[in-house]
Amino acid sequence: MQLLNSLHNAMLNGEANKVLGAIMNDLINYTSTHFKTEESLFEKYNYPEIQGHKEEHSELVSQVVRFKKEFDSGATMLSIKLITFLKNWLILHIVASDKEYTNFFHEKGIY
Ligand SMILES: [Fe+2]
Repeated sequence: MQLLNSLHNAMLNGEANKVLGAIMNDLINYTSTHFKTEESLFEKYNYPEIQGHKEEHSELVSQVVRFKKEFDSGATMLSIKLITFLKNWLILHIVASDKEYTNFFHEKGIY
């Protein structure tokens, strides 16, 4: 969220191109670390929805990586539309899919 907010602010200030590469790298690192942690807990506790959830993760990582590649190649201009799409995707994942496992882990004594 913080990364997306930084990106949004940079865009509003007309400085997106200066900070975008670094923000995208941070986003890739953050999502991959965060997803790996989640997935290792899923495996450890046999979370029943592991497959679908992992697929959502890898799809999101691929999208972020693709977006970064496009940015690096300079092939496409970044637009608010793409940022909004990415933001919505993350929010959707966190409030919907991630929320689904909350009770499961609480039952295992994990908070
Ligand atoms: Fe997740």
